[in-house]
Amino acid sequence: MSQASATPAARPPARRATSAGAEVVVEHASRRYGSVQALADATLHADPGEMLAITGRSGSGKSTLLNLIGGLDQPSSGSVLIDGREVWREPGAPRHRRELVGFVFQQHFLLANLTASANIEVALIGAGIRRSERRARALELLAEVGLVDRAEHLPAELSGGERQRVALARALANEPRLLLADEPTGAVDSATSQRILDLLAELRARRGMTLIIVSYDAQVGEQADRMLTVIDGVLGGELRSPPSPGAST
Ligand SMILES: Nc1ncnc2c1ncn2[C@@H]1O[C@H](COP(=O)(O)OP(=O)(O)O)[C@@H](O)[C@H]1O
Ligand SMILES: [Mg+2]
Repeated sequence: MSQASATPAARPPARRATSAGAEVVVEHASRRYGSVQALADATLHADPGEMLAITGRSGSGKSTLLNLIGGLDQPSSGSVLIDGREVWREPGAPRHRRELVGFVFQQHFLLANLTASANIEVALIGAGIRRSERRARALELLAEVGLVDRAEHLPAELSGGERQRVALARALANEPRLLLADEPTGAVDSATSQRILDLLAELRARRGMTLIIVSYDAQVGEQADRMLTVIDGVLGGELRSPPSPGAST
């Protein structure tokens, strides 16, 4: 294991090795809001590093399911296990969430008065990283989403697709093992949408994180390993088989 060393590491590695994805198991999870059964008896399993797409119409329960997986909400019954543990019911849940999960939403939720770089740096504050290091990490993350030349731009000076890419870089800031995307392309045109989906797939392949994308748009399933569907709160089986072996990724 690690040997004691007199010289501190100059710099932590920028990212973990691949195969760093979290395993996600949802077992008979239901969520009721008053009289609304938003999700009924959902069961799913995502392998570490898998890319899973979940589609369904508006109001079908997709966000409810994703919020349960990411610990933003708790099931009324049933369980959600991350790497075999019900982490969202444990006392350290907020810290686990910060360390384990990255979220991307339809709206970018960037802070309007901060530059692209500063928006990402803010996400690194809780991780105990020095200010100069935060800046360097933010620039690396912007490079990863192809936006290093926009580091000093405010959100209002970026296109919708660029803002969403900054939001994606921010979601990656704490090296999440699980990336959850809720309608990540819901607010952009179809060409931009394709670019964001390509980028998500590429990041998943490079980083090895588990990626779950929910959307009303079945286009999100094109590069996924599997695509599931939700109809009126009921999570159904696969819409199509995984791509054949040897298909380009
Ligand atoms: N916090 C909430 N309070 C009450 N009802 C909710 C809440 N969140 C979602 N719902 C209801 O649950 C159902 C599923 O919602 P949601 O998961 O947001 O669907 P989707 O993301 O597929 O559009 C809808 O009928 C919605 O109105
Ligand atoms: Mg939704």
